[in-house]
Amino acid sequence: MLKTHTCGELNRRRVGNRVTLAGWVDRRRDHGGLIFVDLRDRSGIVQVVFNPQVAKVVHDLATELRSEFVVRVSGEVALRPKGTENPKLPTGEIEVIAGEITILNRSKTPPFYINEEVEVEENLRLKYRYLDLRRPAMQQRIILRHRIVKFIRDFFNAEGFLEIETPILIKSTPEGARDYLVPSRVYPGKFYALPQSPQQLKQLLMVAGFEKYFQIARCFRDEDTRADRQPEFTQIDLEMSFVEAEDITNLVERLMISLAKTVRPDMKLVEPFPRLTYAEAMERFGSDKPDFRFGLEIRDISDIAAASKFGVFCSAVSDGGKVKGICAPGCGAYTRGQLEELNRLAQSLGAGGLVTIALGSAPGDLGDLQMEMVKSVAARYLTIEQVKAIAQKMNARMGDLMLIVAGKGNLVDEVLGELRLHMGRQLKLIDPNSLSFAFVLDFPLVERDKKTGGWKPVVHPFTMPKEEDLPLLESAPDRVRSKSYDIVCNGYEIGGGSIRIHTRDLQKRVFAARGYIDEDIEELFGHMLEAFEYGAPPHGGIALGLDRLIMLLAGAETIREVIAFPKNQNAADLTFNAPSPVTWEQLDELHLKLHDEYHPVPEDR
Ligand code: AMO
Repeated sequence: MLKTHTCGELNRRRVGNRVTLAGWVDRRRDHGGLIFVDLRDRSGIVQVVFNPQVAKVVHDLATELRSEFVVRVSGEVALRPKGTENPKLPTGEIEVIAGEITILNRSKTPPFYINEEVEVEENLRLKYRYLDLRRPAMQQRIILRHRIVKFIRDFFNAEGFLEIETPILIKSTPEGARDYLVPSRVYPGKFYALPQSPQQLKQLLMVAGFEKYFQIARCFRDEDTRADRQPEFTQIDLEMSFVEAEDITNLVERLMISLAKTVRPDMKLVEPFPRLTYAEAMERFGSDKPDFRFGLEIRDISDIAAASKFGVFCSAVSDGGKVKGICAPGCGAYTRGQLEELNRLAQSLGAGGLVTIALGSAPGDLGDLQMEMVKSVAARYLTIEQVKAIAQKMNARMGDLMLIVAGKGNLVDEVLGELRLHMGRQLKLIDPNSLSFAFVLDFPLVERDKKTGGWKPVVHPFTMPKEEDLPLLESAPDRVRSKSYDIVCNGYEIGGGSIRIHTRDLQKRVFAARGYIDEDIEELFGHMLEAFEYGAPPHGGIALGLDRLIMLLAGAETIREVIAFPKNQNAADLTFNAPSPVTWEQLDELHLKLHDEYHPVPEDR
């Protein structure tokens, strides 16, 4: 090695030792003849002093040093003079008195500071990702990622799982997103697809008898990029034979608890993880990935509303809809402007409008509430008893504001779910230092697509329906619940899985109920159906979004912050400038022809 020690490991126990260090110049300061250089490597920073009285030539060379030069320095570890210690630095008690220096490489002035935590435009960071990754905060996140992955591998190994790699060039899996396709040179006109997940492969591994499989698996989905979505991402993928849903959820719960306690012992963790059905999650939180870090639960007030004289409420209920609401504590004195903003938000989410009821502007006992204190467009049509009954249902007190939406059941839940998140943030009810995991169970197989009116899959087609709902498979597939489970944390879906279908007949029936015709079933899934005829064991599994999990454990805002080389928000890799054009020769080899607008034909062709 070009070094004997790392910068960060030096401390007062090393005083008097001669050390050789190698790293980057974090900053250089000249002080009356002395030059101080903060030398940085992965382990941390140490101060190196260049004294012309100790070594004149070395000092002169040090005047050339600039930020991000790569140097090798030899010298003696010494205690810093009294009063010059830096308690903020782990190595702050000592310094290295340089006796030798070699400049291993120079650096241009970087496009942004490496040594300061300043906000830098993300596309610039991504273009120079190797410099961005050199910044201490990014280094910490990537090191955390390594520790998490190592922990996970050790965990599964100890549980008797085998890590098995599966192909990247494969046939497309219907997971709901668009596939990335790879044209075949050998088979003109045919394509591989990159896996959206190793779903079918891990099921075949169960048919193969491996019983417990896991993989840190790369997945590819051509969908719009978001804070928690990348075209290319990593799953902790697992599958087990001879299990029921609770076996998988209990295993994942144990993994999450031990992982969180190891890497984030400072964060609050609620144990055991709550478990609620999809129907319950929608009813109470208006979301299939509820944020459990705060309350503001949605309450149904349809019965009270229906008995009132307020047209909006009555007609919603008589049309088969619902009237529901949440209570915003202490918001009774909201201004017109603030209420208008909430109303606009509700409308932008698809609600006809928002009915607010302010229970007076000051805190107090509900018993003291008078009709004159109640502010609402509905006030004229409600009795004080009705207002109090609604308030009681919503756990509201005087001085609170009730936000009420009337309309179709699903829409009401969704709008209130968003309003709940909005109020939670606005009222600062969310503890950023807590990890609130939960399992959401029993998703329906399909739901109505708002745009097309047809069925839209909620879970993938290999998911086992609940036996008791099977009679509805053909007539009302949206009422068929499945043996599925998502794990959510802080309002993010961090994983999803299910018990699978393992018999040919049921699998075929489910494909058919989902609208696949016989020919397509054979063409797309013939291999799965055939495999199920050779002793497929009952099995189930789950996949956790590794990037999302690390994002939460790192306290980062996006998964791009915890991926070494992510794509930007427009799915481009800015370091490599990918995607990029290819040559005519490459296209010819792949038997591909592009539209002229994308690849104008050169004149000599
Ligand atoms: P699912 O599609 O729910 O299930 O994916 C599992 C988890 O992967 C994460 N995830 C993503 N993370 C980043 N970017 C994306 N584009 C992205 N898409 C998904 C989420 C999600 O919960 N084969 C099934 C699992 C199974 O049934 O075992 C599957 O892939 O955290």
